[in-house]
Amino acid sequence: MFPITRMRRLRSTKIKQMMQETKLDVSDFVYPLFVDENITRPVEVASMPGVFRLPVDGVVSEVREVCELGIPAVILFGVPRDKDENGTHAWGNDDVVQRAVRQVKAEFGDDIYVITDVCLCEYTNHGHCGVTQGEQILNDPTLELLGKTAVSQVASGADMVAPSGMMDGMVQAIRRSLDMEGYTDVPIMSYAAKYASNFYGPFRDAADSSYTFGDRSTYQMNPANSDEALREVELDIAEGADIVMVKPALPYLDVLYRIKQQFQMPTAAYHVSGEYSMIKAAAQLGWLDDKRTMYESLIAIKRAGADIIITYAAKQLCLNNYFSSNSG
Ligand code: PBG
Repeated sequence: MFPITRMRRLRSTKIKQMMQETKLDVSDFVYPLFVDENITRPVEVASMPGVFRLPVDGVVSEVREVCELGIPAVILFGVPRDKDENGTHAWGNDDVVQRAVRQVKAEFGDDIYVITDVCLCEYTNHGHCGVTQGEQILNDPTLELLGKTAVSQVASGADMVAPSGMMDGMVQAIRRSLDMEGYTDVPIMSYAAKYASNFYGPFRDAADSSYTFGDRSTYQMNPANSDEALREVELDIAEGADIVMVKPALPYLDVLYRIKQQFQMPTAAYHVSGEYSMIKAAAQLGWLDDKRTMYESLIAIKRAGADIIITYAAKQLCLNNYFSSNSG
């Protein structure tokens, strides 16, 4: 007890690093990339300063930078030229993500791990994550399309697929489709506990995936629930998920913590667009330091149990060498 015990003894800069329980490392990061078929040069996303939509031909140079920084993985989202009722351009051999993946793999091979997001919302003209009938989003007819999409992405060279549409049975459907084509060794990272969140707002600018009616609350989770998240994760594991994800991250650290404790699965957390943008916006106003606040957010996510962090801030933190010099 005080005055014998003084916690401050171990907080001097001399020993602080050694006492640090959680360390953030560049190897924790997955960097999201938006590939847009409608542009010829990179276009900054208005609501996400520092994040760019890239033309298909611009992906290679971006990935080169990512590799040079030591970031091990990217996750690709596509913005197609044409959208339709069923999201047909999610699975064509010459569609946007398939083309981008082929270019990246031809250039970098195993030097970069390529994950592809498997969802229809960027490809449907109504912006929902599944096939619709009237204002209903149909679960089962969507599954087959997700399977096809995953297979086409893997056939183009994707190393891992990440279904994000919150359809029941999506992991099983994708696992079966991949296995039937012989892709038994390709892992699935499931967006298992994905909440119907307002924090996705800026992403929908970036990926041009706003919906034309309703919202996503009939398939994404209610922010008030966390027991339900455990059930979602349990089902996805049973269906064959190799990695489970919680999304968003910072407002759901309790959920992340419970999931990691309960299942001890490789667990990812998605530090989403809104989490990124609100820090950037405050920084633009001079209200806080964006890099330090970003670092603090990400270390909190890791401390809560994330093995993998998907974040738009990955490059910026690496460029500023935030790992050795800033322990908080
Ligand atoms: C597609 C998808 C979304 C995000 C990732 N995949 C948007 C959504 O569900 O509305 C959000 C990512 C972010 O906000 O950074 N279903």
